[in-house]
Amino acid sequence: MKELNLRIKRISVVMLTLTIAVFALAGCGKSEEFGVGPVKEEIKLAPVDAALYTKGEQIFTTKCVACHKFGSRLVGPPLKDVTKRRRPEWIMNQILNPLEMTQKDKVSKELFAQYLVQMTFQDVTQDDARALLEYMRAVDEGKVTPKE
Ligand code: HEC
Repeated sequence: MKELNLRIKRISVVMLTLTIAVFALAGCGKSEEFGVGPVKEEIKLAPVDAALYTKGEQIFTTKCVACHKFGSRLVGPPLKDVTKRRRPEWIMNQILNPLEMTQKDKVSKELFAQYLVQMTFQDVTQDDARALLEYMRAVDEGKVTPKE
């Protein structure tokens, strides 16, 4: 009887360990898609909002144009269709936490290896990053044409 109890206990421990491992792995996959940074929750997207993307456009014009165009490479990658190739959370984390992104996120690391310049934090808030995301969505949906 004692031995049976012990065996059940052992099996439970193994099951528990496996469960934790599976959750940990699933968690990793998610964080990789989201990148690393303050944005950890899924961003729920509604149809493109004109007031929000206009705000984003203004921020982009002052803080991003030195390094980015949409149609061609400048210091950084061309941003055309970036909202189609990356998740919204990933884009916001790249804007809010570029240094850690190029160090820890696989995709960002590859971009850094390709462009050989470190994108720098532009002193933007999370709301600013959300507005910038909206601007990139508006460009990708043809709702606004970037001035470049
Ligand atoms: C100093 C130049 C510089 C500035 C300023 C800059 N970036 Fe970047 N950006 C880069 C570089 C270079 C990369 C590629 C990753 C790296 O090497 O850091 C990049 C990557 C990105 C990416 C990912 C592109 C892709 O193809 O996945 C996005 C999105 C982005 N930047 C948006 C912005 C926004 C929005 C701003 C303004 C708030 C901004 N960047 C300001 C240089 C810059």
